[in-house]
Amino acid sequence: MSPEAASGDLGQAHVFLTGGTGFVGQAILERLLSSHPGTTISLLVRVKGSTTGQDRLRNLLRKPVFAQWRERVGDEEVERSVRERLRVIEGSLSNFPALPGDLDVVIHSASTVSFDPPIDQAFDTNVGGALGLYGALAASGSDPHVVHVSTAYVGGIRKGIVPEARLVHDVDWRAEYEAAKGARDRVQMNSRQPEVLRGFINDARAVHGKEGPQAVAKAAEAARVEWVQARLVDYGRTRAESLGWTDVYTLTKAFAERVAEELWDGTGHRLSVVRPAIIESALTHPFPGWIDGFKVADPLILAYGRGILPEFPGLPDSVLDVIPVDFVVNAILAVAANPPVDAPPQYFHISSGASNPLPIHRMLQNMNEFFTANPMPHESEGHIRVPTWKFPGGLKVERALRTQEKANRLHEKVLGSLPSTERTRTRMAKLHRRRGDLESLRNFSELYRAYVQTEIIFDDRNTKALHHALPADVQADRGFDVSAINWEDYLGRVHFPAITTLTRAFAVRKPATERKARALPESSDILAVFDLEGTVVDSNIVEQYLWVRSAGLRKAAWPGEVASLLASLPGYLSAEQRDRGEFIRVFLRRYSGMRVARLESVVAGGYHETLLKHTMPEAIKRIQEHRDAGHRTVLVTGSIGALVEPLAELFDEVIAGSMHERDGVLTGFLAQPPLVDEARAAWLLRYAETHSLDLSKSYGYGDSHADLVWLELLGHPTAVNPDTKLSREAQRRRWSIHNWKRGPHGIRRR
Ligand SMILES: NC(=O)c1ccc[n+]([C@@H]2O[C@H](COP(=O)([O-])OP(=O)(O)OC[C@H]3O[C@@H](n4cnc5c(N)ncnc54)[C@H](OP(=O)(O)O)[C@@H]3O)[C@@H](O)[C@H]2O)c1
Repeated sequence: MSPEAASGDLGQAHVFLTGGTGFVGQAILERLLSSHPGTTISLLVRVKGSTTGQDRLRNLLRKPVFAQWRERVGDEEVERSVRERLRVIEGSLSNFPALPGDLDVVIHSASTVSFDPPIDQAFDTNVGGALGLYGALAASGSDPHVVHVSTAYVGGIRKGIVPEARLVHDVDWRAEYEAAKGARDRVQMNSRQPEVLRGFINDARAVHGKEGPQAVAKAAEAARVEWVQARLVDYGRTRAESLGWTDVYTLTKAFAERVAEELWDGTGHRLSVVRPAIIESALTHPFPGWIDGFKVADPLILAYGRGILPEFPGLPDSVLDVIPVDFVVNAILAVAANPPVDAPPQYFHISSGASNPLPIHRMLQNMNEFFTANPMPHESEGHIRVPTWKFPGGLKVERALRTQEKANRLHEKVLGSLPSTERTRTRMAKLHRRRGDLESLRNFSELYRAYVQTEIIFDDRNTKALHHALPADVQADRGFDVSAINWEDYLGRVHFPAITTLTRAFAVRKPATERKARALPESSDILAVFDLEGTVVDSNIVEQYLWVRSAGLRKAAWPGEVASLLASLPGYLSAEQRDRGEFIRVFLRRYSGMRVARLESVVAGGYHETLLKHTMPEAIKRIQEHRDAGHRTVLVTGSIGALVEPLAELFDEVIAGSMHERDGVLTGFLAQPPLVDEARAAWLLRYAETHSLDLSKSYGYGDSHADLVWLELLGHPTAVNPDTKLSREAQRRRWSIHNWKRGPHGIRRR
């Protein structure tokens, strides 16, 4: 269409808006409220948890997008508008509610905008949602002009100019919709096949075996659920690709256009389809830089600023089709005010590539200048220096990425097999960070493939014609002439500052090891649980056994005992790898035949001094801090109580095992199963209940992966000198990590 004079006014229209809580929808709602005062607006809002649609609207109106309008008209006018102009219709796209019979305009903006959702979710929201909307409109008796918000990338990867017209394809969208709806049941069924489940169990046992059987079952089930999700994502991605689309998002948006054409235009109603490109922060309205979270191009910009994108897989001259959100909103509302007259649907590309292209190399130049002048802070080296891209081509970038991923994996494997020390942990943390960066790189390559490796240009003649047909005052206030955008000004002054302001606050987050411990809160319902070996003392049950034995043996017999221990060591080590309880059980059999009185006298003698020497001063300090704050301090060990007797006075209570004895002689059998991994977690829950302690306020200190299951029950878990697996989990969960060392003399007998 090429109107000669268009209206910029929606007058007294009753507008129904879907997606009003989203990025674009909020900005549409703000413009309707602030610049179209005669309109009444009905909003589709879904209930979230216990928050009703009306409550969500109240929360929405407090967001920054409405701040200027609120300030200009005052709270009273806002209240009046809410009362008289705004109506909430609770419901969702999957369960469309009945609609009023007096609608003049519908703006359908709600959608799932993620590129890679599971196939059934993408179809349910985007195709099922359109079916629900047009079904409800037909049932309502309303005859509104519908502005159907789609995306410029709806036609998939192409080269050259894409017209503002109906998409050319003959895919049977109904058959695809039916197939997608059944996908979850099929995948769920496959995930429960014994051979598939066996794989999950084996993998889970390899990683979580040490935590206990419930942890293995939990991890196996989590892996199954994750597998189902990943399969459904793959179903979507592959089906889209096999039909010629980039991803399931653009595929379902294309089908949604068909639904609108068939069910609305096809039944004699007025329809306009608007297709925005990549929407970013506002150029001027409601204020320069307004944005609601990070959008499509922002992860790329920020990753560049953080220095983690050494190269880029795209073509330097491909166009990054960015459009400020206020241009999109202005165009949508102008389209809404100018329905097609006795004509087929009208289509509009809201994009910049045809009239004012921003090639990637120009975007890079802007990013480079901005981050050179305003570098992001670096954890240890002051500031981050940004790279210079040479654009070697997608294949070379992919090959380099694969090599780096492989090297990193290998490095992690080697490091993981070494004993856990402060040095290996620091190096491992670096490798994890590197892995995260490489994963981001891979995601970026895939995410932006559709945007930056193509030579696609969206024709925007309809949109331009509409802008020029608007009255001059509307053009000035609510226009969308993209050729007027100065990219250097928009990016450098408006957009980059808007998105980096948010990030800078998080950029220099200190590693968990360096964060300062806060003072402990004083309370008597708080528990502080300490594991023994590797946490409070830097010894283990093998060493303790040797201390006991060395005190009990004649010198001549001593080498034989060591030799026998060394011979059994491989067996012990593999038992320890599999299951800590099994190791303790097997190892403590070595005490079989020892007289109880003998053990007691050894422990009271030299053993006592030796154990105290191996106690870590930072552990003692921490225990004392907990006691000073009125917390209940408990030492828990899978070993036997007799061996930890020297430490008893440091704690309010020691929970340890005991060994069965007959006629004053140890049999080598434990009197009860060792209190480790899940057994310790079960004990902890019971202990807290019996002593009325609040676990969410409580503290725990452990060093081994086997401690994970009980540490995670506590509000304040701390990994002390963690082994590789616990260290990885603690970093992932942002737990405190401490490296406690033995002092030069340990502590002395009091
Ligand atoms: N952002 C872009 O760069 C871009 C580019 C081109 C086209 N578009 C199109 O522009 C439109 C708006 O995108 P956006 O960026 O504003 O997305 P957004 O911020 O993710 O907002 C999505 C909106 O849809 C609603 N929604 C999602 N699923 C729903 C369901 N099942 N039932 C009811 N409401 C549901 C959300 O409601 P809740 O708050 O309840 O979740 C939210 O209001 C979409 O049609 C999108 O395809 C966006």
